[in-house]
Amino acid sequence: MSSPKILLIRHARIILPNGEVMIGDVLTRDRQIVEVAPEISQPALATEIDAQGLTLLPGVIDPQVHFREPGLEHKEDLFTASCACAKGGVTSFLEMPNTRPLTTTQQALDDKLERASNKCLVNYGFFIGATAENLPDLLLAKPTPGIKIFMGSMHGQLLVDGETALEGIFAKGDRLIAVHAEDQARINQRRQEFANIHDPAVHSQIQDNQAALLASQLALKLSKKYQRRLHILHLSTAEEAELLRQDKPSWVTAEVTPQHLLLNTSAYEQIGTLAQMNPPLRSPHDNEVLWQALRDGVIDFIATDHAPHTLEEKAQEYPNTPSGMPGVETSLALMLTAAMEGKCTVAQVVNWMSKAVAVAYGIPNKGAIAPGYDADLVLVDLNTYRPVRREELLTKCGWSPFEGWNLTGWAVTTIVGGEIVYDKGQVNTQVRGQALTFL
Ligand code: DOR
Repeated sequence: MSSPKILLIRHARIILPNGEVMIGDVLTRDRQIVEVAPEISQPALATEIDAQGLTLLPGVIDPQVHFREPGLEHKEDLFTASCACAKGGVTSFLEMPNTRPLTTTQQALDDKLERASNKCLVNYGFFIGATAENLPDLLLAKPTPGIKIFMGSMHGQLLVDGETALEGIFAKGDRLIAVHAEDQARINQRRQEFANIHDPAVHSQIQDNQAALLASQLALKLSKKYQRRLHILHLSTAEEAELLRQDKPSWVTAEVTPQHLLLNTSAYEQIGTLAQMNPPLRSPHDNEVLWQALRDGVIDFIATDHAPHTLEEKAQEYPNTPSGMPGVETSLALMLTAAMEGKCTVAQVVNWMSKAVAVAYGIPNKGAIAPGYDADLVLVDLNTYRPVRREELLTKCGWSPFEGWNLTGWAVTTIVGGEIVYDKGQVNTQVRGQALTFL
């Protein structure tokens, strides 16, 4: 029998489940937290981490990422993406079905789970993608956090934009439906109106606030008709936030990305097509309304929509450029920097990036530092600032829309299942995460 893995984290500023801070110790044994106390005496065989001056948070659960494997590994793969997660303090992720082949069957889901078990350094879950024809798969596939529907901004089988087809999915079964809410008909029409314009800033005009609002309204209508658990992915506009503020059933949740909180259409001038994503960046007014909605609980949590594309792909001329930007390495530091600037509290960041995600997706034993919870943890340094540097990034795409931003709250040490997966610039590539389960 192998001896248990024991980790003792000492003298940390621990963010407790009630949001209070305690200076103290955390003991983990194998994959679980077993004790949290002001002082714990060192058990035999424990690896000790001196966390003096550092803040201990539950590991981040990123509920929307695109990790490109299988089929698009020139952009990213599960190994490189999970190294980037470890560096960013992300200990679990939920990944989207627009890989090749599409994750629209149990077989494709099983293939991803198998690949992840071999090469993923952090914990993983995979959405099942809806098509107009795969209802039986949507009802039975497991384990999965839910059904992903692209109502717009997609082509081919994964685009489900007709109300009848959408209603067929909302009407059957009870598992969570997560929607990319953009109205494809409006996008198609506006693409024609803005044809032959190569300034990427036009992207935010083509896929405008109204396109997002129309789709969110339709998803909400269907969710209310069938009392169907709905999650609105990367909500991006003031209008959608206002819609939910007026009318948000208890079974509906929504997320926002750091990009939609912190970047706006002015980014096109600075970084061009690197700022192109779906749904697009909006105005400074939208930034402010989204922040307020997040603070008020109208928006429930944060996701990065990590969507890597190579610099070569991004260097083409708009509209030939792909939409999306990477995010798992910078999300926690961006949000903690915002907390230090007074936009929110560190406890709110913990809730939005761990606890609320675990609750919304029914992921047991994650999102809190308490005995019985999984030992997925991140120690961050809130005392120093360091810029985002391209040469330090681990994502295979090798760039970030936040390059040059001076951030605090960088992960110093990341722990997955009681094992140190990242420590002061070094990734331990031997660590493996586990498949997440969903209640
Ligand atoms: O900008 C985006 N890119 N938004 C999405 O929803 C998909 C993603 C991708 O896969 O590239």
